[in-house]
Amino acid sequence: MNRLHQYDVVIIGSGLAGLRAALEASNHGNVAVISKLYPTRSHSTAAQGGIAAALGNEEPDSPEWHFYDTTKGSDYLGDQDAIEVMCEDAIRTVIELEHMGVPFSRTPEGRIAQRRFGGHTREFGAAPVRRACYSADRTGHAIVFALYEQCQLRGVRFFPEFHVLDIVVEDGRCHGVVAMEIPTGQIHAFSTKATVVASGGYGRVFKTTSNAIATTGDCLSILFNRGVPLEDMEFFQFHPTGLYGLGILITEGARGEGGILINGKGERFMERYAPTIKDLAPRDMVSRAILNEIREGRGIDGRDFVYLDLTGIPKQILQERLPEISTFSKIYLGIDPSESPIPVLPTAHYAMGGIPTDVDARVLSNERGDTIEGLYAAGECACVSVHGANRLGCNSLLDTVVFGRRAGKAIAECLREADYGRITNEVVERAIVEIENIINSRGDTRVGSIRAEMQKEMMEHCSVFRTEEGLKKTIEILTELKKASKNIQLHDRTKRFNTELLEAIELRHLLNLADVIARSALQRTESRGAHYREDFPERDDKNWLKHTFAFKEGDSIEFRYRPVKITRFQPEERKY
Ligand code: FUM
Repeated sequence: MNRLHQYDVVIIGSGLAGLRAALEASNHGNVAVISKLYPTRSHSTAAQGGIAAALGNEEPDSPEWHFYDTTKGSDYLGDQDAIEVMCEDAIRTVIELEHMGVPFSRTPEGRIAQRRFGGHTREFGAAPVRRACYSADRTGHAIVFALYEQCQLRGVRFFPEFHVLDIVVEDGRCHGVVAMEIPTGQIHAFSTKATVVASGGYGRVFKTTSNAIATTGDCLSILFNRGVPLEDMEFFQFHPTGLYGLGILITEGARGEGGILINGKGERFMERYAPTIKDLAPRDMVSRAILNEIREGRGIDGRDFVYLDLTGIPKQILQERLPEISTFSKIYLGIDPSESPIPVLPTAHYAMGGIPTDVDARVLSNERGDTIEGLYAAGECACVSVHGANRLGCNSLLDTVVFGRRAGKAIAECLREADYGRITNEVVERAIVEIENIINSRGDTRVGSIRAEMQKEMMEHCSVFRTEEGLKKTIEILTELKKASKNIQLHDRTKRFNTELLEAIELRHLLNLADVIARSALQRTESRGAHYREDFPERDDKNWLKHTFAFKEGDSIEFRYRPVKITRFQPEERKY
């Protein structure tokens, strides 16, 4: 039997954005959080290096410099009204987290310790600045646990291991959510006044990624199918230092603490690409530089990786500030980073694009800025856009808590006026039929083989370097893979904890998003931030200083555009 629930607010996702939104919304109504995972296993716990805030605890800093760095880091595609909101709110946000019990690392005087991170500078680019507040290299983990405890104290209701099947957006408003309880296979409908999507990223479209298995972008794909546009999907960040062969993140904090990148000739090659801030240049530049060294035959022993050398960092600092990555490196590669350099290669890390929102997390229905009643989004799944074409490290944790909180605040107004949404039997039936169709499909293809082909294709032609020819080929292959995904066969046809069924559902979403990424990348005929077109290597502000809005049009996509909001810093050449 299906179950129907009624909550003022339902939040999808129990990472940092979801938890912070839940905490805030609990001031205004009853709140439920639905999550694919047990909340404390959300991907936010994998965030290592820190959260940016110009506290100035270790050296002079200011929110204005942070605003400038974030704008420049975004390659001027970030909306400056939103960036200013985020940077101005950063100090208050970190102090609030401290008061909630986040165990930040400390300076000898007992202040929150801060370290350097890519693209964060003092005096408008003069030199790197210590702006990342951290809890060793487990910052995300520390914040998730503190927020989860706070939510428990406030009586937020959690529905862990619930897989979202539909977000009901009809007649210009969001009515609620349909989800499957994973342990039983039972279908639940949640009628809401407000729904917040805080479901994280979709790095699993790529073969090599730092993203957890569950980061498959289901909710973005569901909303896209429901007519909601997706913004700036061509911009996907590759983190320069993934463990070679695995993609596991080695925090940029390692370079912030003094680690350096070395090529096969033993050169500190970032000196050539970013003479002022070297290894602490923004991620798009460092990732391209690494791959360029490899292409030109200067990988280690001519192979396809470079070294991250941490041997110059005192052992005690490694133990105190970078214990997690030291352990990863020992466990997965048998390398003690205090003694030998670590082989690294860029890894798909973060989606700058996503569900378009205003600065209060209200979801936009179009490029003109109209909003969808009762629907909010925050965190990596959303595009505010504070990161533009390239996010600076440590700005994602900040984004999640700043805009998660703002979503929770904005909801208060919505709750005063709204009724509970209407979830019809047809909507629930449609979800059930879709599940039945997948379970009963007797095709000849396996989910895993389609997914592997998609990930390989996206990696080859739609990652750090892109060309028209490669992107067109990718789009063709994705079209074939989408067809194949309708002709699958599962080994497991049961309902309880059927992970194969979940993977089949996720595969459809991944393919949907891969297609949006590739088509968005094809139409943007310039290079900006993480989107690098070898056939259009220059940034083109005259034609492309604008956000892409992708709308589903049958089997195709319609593109429309929205101007970038420039309030303070005019675009300039991006030199570091
Ligand atoms: O390198 C890192 O620790 C990643 C941080 C981030 O993506 O913000």
